[in-house]
Amino acid sequence: MPRSKIAGIGMYVPEKVFTNNDLLKYMDTSDEWIQERTGIKERRYAHRTEETTTTMGVAAAKIAIERAGITAQDVDFIVFATLCPDYYFPGCGVLVQRELKMKEIGALDVRNQCSGFLYALSVADQFIRSGTYKNILVIGSEKHSFGLDFSTRGRNVSVIFGDGAGAVVLQPTEKNDQGILSTHLHSDGESAEILAMYNPGTHANHWGAKNYASFDDAEISQMFMSHKMIDSAQNFPFMDGPSVFKKAIVKFPEVIMEALHKNGYELSDLNMLIPHQANLRISQFVQQKLKLRDDQVYNNIQKYGNTTAASVPIALCEAWQEGKIKEGNLVCLAAFGSGFTWASALLKW
Ligand code: ACO
Repeated sequence: MPRSKIAGIGMYVPEKVFTNNDLLKYMDTSDEWIQERTGIKERRYAHRTEETTTTMGVAAAKIAIERAGITAQDVDFIVFATLCPDYYFPGCGVLVQRELKMKEIGALDVRNQCSGFLYALSVADQFIRSGTYKNILVIGSEKHSFGLDFSTRGRNVSVIFGDGAGAVVLQPTEKNDQGILSTHLHSDGESAEILAMYNPGTHANHWGAKNYASFDDAEISQMFMSHKMIDSAQNFPFMDGPSVFKKAIVKFPEVIMEALHKNGYELSDLNMLIPHQANLRISQFVQQKLKLRDDQVYNNIQKYGNTTAASVPIALCEAWQEGKIKEGNLVCLAAFGSGFTWASALLKW
């Protein structure tokens, strides 16, 4: 059975740099608070009307496709991961298919938030291993800036997130010492409401006490989106930050060790860990817990903020472009996020 390899990788971040100090125009916060708690110095924001989650994904995809030495017409399947699609439906995958004038191939959207890219990569990996497809485009992209609460009310969430996209082309490889060795996917829906955007949605209070959203019967009978929802910020992401932190620092190390042990490796064998760029403090905690050297872990959240489904491919692409990942290196990708979901992939570059 062939393994899949990353044949091409690309990234795109918008031109507009938004520093912590730029946020002061909108909310009561400080550069010091943000850097101390998250490590973030600045992030990129997409052009409000000229860029979308899909167009950024397409920009990253074009680079990945070119680097893979193929054309868009050679791609035989698309997997697109995002939590902020251009439309509630249809998904971004079909917009990529249209934009790149691809054949009438399958286009799948994945909704696993910060773990989205790794879930998408895992799906693509299975299709390559089974021999179904030969050139799969996997994209993670987010235009968070369009859906954040920039008032002081939303500051605990809004300062963390940034926009951007990353993409890879997966192809089969017959080489024993190359490619994706394994992927590992997990979830625990018990904490679904800890990190979530409740509305618009169809839950209508169904999840009751577990849900932080609460509406009266009159409202529920009439709406998908109401004025009260907007007034109470239900259309913005909610995050119980300390609970996310506590779970993340347990699940990141677990899923990294799972990937290594499944393939007979130890931490000392690892050339590079690319953690989802959730928060620099989370990455540093994981690094310390696993006793990894600085050169074994790559972080770029300082420049881009947390770009959710895009963060792993952006970090992987930058690490590779900077020459920090070389042929034959053992690389672990790991993510944790809303759901909760968490995942890892171990690969030989
Ligand atoms: N600027 C200034 N003050 C702020 C800000 C801000 N941007 N945000 C919150 N505060 C204030 C709060 O209002 C609160 O003030 P109070 O004590 O007067 O009530 C105080 O800071 C502490 O608030 P907490 O929410 O308890 O802040 P905490 O110290 O927990 O830090 C943070 C928040 C950074 C989110 C932290 O909980 C954390 O690191 N959590 C991990 C979650 C995370 O990083 N998620 C990333 C996205 S999800 C993912 O990718 C997995």
